[in-house]
Order: sequence, then C-alpha cells, then structure tokens
Amino acid sequence: MNTVLKNVNLETSYAEAEDNFKQRNPNSAAMHVSASEVMPGGNTRTVLHYAPYPLTFSKGEGAHLYDADGHKLVDFLGEYTAGIYGHSNPIIQSAIETAVRDGIVLGGPNMMEARLARLLVERFPALDLIRFTNSGTEANLMAIGAARAFTGRSKVMAMEGGYHGGVLYFASPSPINAPFEMVLIPYNDPAVAREVIKREGDQLACVIVEPMMGSSGCIPASKEFLATLRSATIETGTLLIFDEVMTSRLAPGGRHGDLEILPDLITLGKYLGGGVSFGAFGGREDIMEGFNPKADGAWPHAGTFNNNIMTMTAGVAGLTQLFTPEACRQLNAKGDSFRRRLINSIETRSLPMQVSGIGSMNTIHFTDKPILRPVNDPIANRKRDLLHLDMLNSGVYHARRGMLNLSLPMVDEDLDYAIGCFEEFLDSRAGILAAD
Ligand SMILES: Cc1ncc(COP(=O)(O)O)c(C=O)c1O
Repeated sequence: MNTVLKNVNLETSYAEAEDNFKQRNPNSAAMHVSASEVMPGGNTRTVLHYAPYPLTFSKGEGAHLYDADGHKLVDFLGEYTAGIYGHSNPIIQSAIETAVRDGIVLGGPNMMEARLARLLVERFPALDLIRFTNSGTEANLMAIGAARAFTGRSKVMAMEGGYHGGVLYFASPSPINAPFEMVLIPYNDPAVAREVIKREGDQLACVIVEPMMGSSGCIPASKEFLATLRSATIETGTLLIFDEVMTSRLAPGGRHGDLEILPDLITLGKYLGGGVSFGAFGGREDIMEGFNPKADGAWPHAGTFNNNIMTMTAGVAGLTQLFTPEACRQLNAKGDSFRRRLINSIETRSLPMQVSGIGSMNTIHFTDKPILRPVNDPIANRKRDLLHLDMLNSGVYHARRGMLNLSLPMVDEDLDYAIGCFEEFLDSRAGILAAD
C-alpha cells in the first residue's frame, strides 16, 4: 500500500485493513459461510457481527483467545464485561466441575442460590432482597414489571441511546422492543430530566438508567444528573432503577455505592455469574416482597434456569475467592492507569480523539468534543471500524464500537502490547485521523 494514500484516504485505508484481515482469516471466513446456511447472517447475537465477518474462536486461555486460523489475541472485549475472570481461571473451572459432578437440573432450591443472594445483598447497598434471572435483559424486564405493578402506573422513562438488553434498546427505533409506553430523555441533562419527570408525574412508573452508558460508549453520568433523577423521582413517587449490569464491577458496592445514591431497584448481570449466564434484580424490601409466593396475589416470576447450579456455584466462587472488594479496586485502578496511557498516546500526537470510561471499562472516541451523551458521526464510526480491524490484525481483540475492558488475568505485558498496537495505529493512520 502506498503510504501517502494510506494516510489521506479513510476508505482506501479501510479496504487495505479489510484485505489484510481476509488474508489472515480464511478459516473464520469458511466458518462464517457455513454458519450463514443455518443462522441469519451466520449470527445469533447481533453485537458479535462486524464486517467483513467475525473471527471464530476455538479456545480461550487466561486473558487470551485463539481464533480458527490459529492466531493468539489479547482479549480486551472481555465478553462485554462478563469475562472479568478470563477464560480459564482454575477456581471458576473447579466450581463448575463440582456443580456438574454433583448433578445439574435439580429442579428445586439448591445449596448455593441463597449464598450467592446473600453475597450480593451484602455487597450492593441498594439490595434488601434479590431474585435471579438468566440474563441482564430479563432482569431489566422484571425490574420494570415490578415497578409498574408496585406503582400501578404504566409509563417507563429511559435515556436516548440507553441500552438495557435486546428488547430495551434506545440507540435507534427498534421494532423488537418490548411494547412499554416509553418516555425518552437526553442523558446527562438534569434540567430536562427534572422537567419531564414532573410533567409525567403520576403516569410514570419508573426511570431506568445506566450510571455509565456502556454500549453507547462508556459515557459516565454526572453525579448531579443521577442525584436529580433521585430527587425528582422521590417527589413524584416514581421508582428509580439503576441498570448496573455492566457498571457493578466498577466499585465494590457498584456505581451507586460509589456515588452514594440509593435507587429503589438495581439490575445486575454479566460477570456476577462467574462467566455463566446470569442476571439479577433487586432492591427495596417493600417492592421485592411483591414476589413473595407465600402471599396472596404475589406477582409471578418464572425462569427454569434462574437458580441453575452452575451459575450459582461459579458466582459464589468468583465473589468469595477472586473478585473481592480489594481485587475490584485493584482492577479498576489498573483500568484508570491504562486509560491515562491511551489518552497520553493521543495527546502526544495532538490527534482529535479521546478515551472515556471509568476504571476497567473504556471506549476510544474519534472526536475531541466533550461527550455527554451518545453521538452518531459516520466518519468517526468509520475510523472506529478501521481501528478495530487494525487492532485485530495486530492481535488485539476489542469491541468494534471502540470499547476495551480489562480482566483479572491481564498482566502488564498484555496492557503494554495493546498500547504498542494502538500507537502503531495512531502513527500509521495519523493523516486520516487528523482530518475531520
Ligand atoms: C447496561 C446493560 N443492561 C442490560 C444488558 C443485557 O444483558 P444480557 O446481555 O445479559 O441480556 C446489557 C448487555 O450488554 C447491558 O450492557
């Protein structure tokens, strides 16, 4: 590739990166073609698709992945924050082996579910009582359902660009969304939030918010914004739900614990099941008691696998032996320093980019304007796609949307390697990155 062209033309650079990717990954290409015969687009989880086709993985070990063409990659996707323990932690492996050995699909309460529930209730200040689900999506559906049942109101407020699962997706209109009567407001705008919550008043069952937007780009909510949501919802008798499916990992007591703001309900997911499918919702006792099956007229909450023994056992092992409060603080401190290094790489080259995030969750953005809420800029998105392919071609796996998450097994060498690849990207693509 002619370096002049490479540095001035985004599309030519992208085509070059895609060619490299295709040459490196013929087996993943074949797997994709075969998968497309039986799944639409060869895909069963939209976020895992990217052009020209996604890498297929054959194995994971520690903080590394191996793809179908035999490349070893450092895993900065970290299963979108669920992979905090990495791929092969012996404590998690042995917990799951024990669960399997002692029998699966037990069909009754088991020895581990109340232990995991107690660990979570002790850890997260908003939780008086908790219930398990199979995913974060289900947890949010249940929390919203509980809020509507408890208040007797129908409307649900969420944020423009927010994400609470495949049926609660607010980045663009989705025909797949759950048919709640939604009110959307801009993120990080306390004045608008207060006004709309007051206006909706006794129609509004709940406000659901990510304390830091995850999938829309690791955009932290200001404390003022979240505190405004708290005070305005108290005034109108509306329930406040913090979706901590991703952010609970950012501090020992979650983001709400760190900010000392107490929502009525929180939802959890991802890593808290030790890497096995997981979701949970919980909060104020008077609300959660609505699910008490010993009471007349209790709200139903079903889910064959809610208390599945593999998740419960792996979750307990992870929280008691690995992701202790101290390990949580250390991982997030490591993430803060990693983000500072990424920012430093950008600033020393004076490029119009930035990195947002908190602790172990970070997103690279192709703009130097302040980011208070999600932005959708096609040129920035194309640069982000180029970063993704260039990093994949160098052996660093991260989310196409620019998100990089740390995991416990990552060592300095992994972080240094990613910084090196990022700087190589910034240098080799400097010409196009500098242009708007
Ligand atoms: C903030 C947030 N809420 C909910 C979900 C949905 O969780 P799950 O994928 O387990 O259904 C996600 C998933 O990425 C998420 O980021």
